[in-house]
Amino acid sequence: MAIPRITVLVSGRGSNLGALIDAEHSGLLGGTIAAVLCNRADAPALAIAGAQGIATQVIEHRRYADRPGFEAALAAAIDASEPDLVVLAGFMRVLGAAFVARYEGRMLNIHPSLLPAYPGLDTHRRALADGVRIHGCTVHFVTADVDHGPIVIQAAVAVRDDDDAGTLAARVLGVEHQILPAAVRAFCEQRLVIAGRRVRVKGEVVPAAAFAVPLPESSAAVTTEIPAIDRSSA
Ligand code: GRF
Repeated sequence: MAIPRITVLVSGRGSNLGALIDAEHSGLLGGTIAAVLCNRADAPALAIAGAQGIATQVIEHRRYADRPGFEAALAAAIDASEPDLVVLAGFMRVLGAAFVARYEGRMLNIHPSLLPAYPGLDTHRRALADGVRIHGCTVHFVTADVDHGPIVIQAAVAVRDDDDAGTLAARVLGVEHQILPAAVRAFCEQRLVIAGRRVRVKGEVVPAAAFAVPLPESSAAVTTEIPAIDRSSA
């Protein structure tokens, strides 16, 4: 069987792209990154791809009068790279229904929250504001309903009392880098079966470490006294 071809769409830093490249070099991706497409000419992700000799192309959304024009150019570039799978790895443009339909069942996204909690932007700050104790990330198939497609893999991390959005983002990013390559590999090995809103994953999903939710270090210092229950009037 031919090695599955993967086209990665990026907008910025490119650390998830780096994790995919590392997995391919380690023989753990199940496919080959055929192209990296980016909507920003100044994105550091382009240099990460370029340093590995991966073909890159910039399709700047700003140069198009409207979204259909941008998406037509993007689709042309994707199709020219002949991918079996399209991966949105920090791609920060909302994609229209027609575009999404074109790649239905073969486009994955990594999102920095435990969906369906916190779709959209600014997930870490919102999670902290809500006081959640568990946060994480999700790899899902892309549907027209943004951040609501069938979930493939999730990984959780503990939220610590002294976290700010930056420290929490860094902890989540660590597990993003584990589950995105794992999800891509499962797709390439044809181990993902979409059934309605659910995805069945055949075989090993992800290294167990990705699911570890260590207790916050600060939990040892919890001093809140739990009041004794007065049962005298019961
Ligand atoms: C990641 O947190 C990803 O989940 C989100 O955007 C960020 C991209 O980071 N969609 P990077 O460019 O992969 O470093």
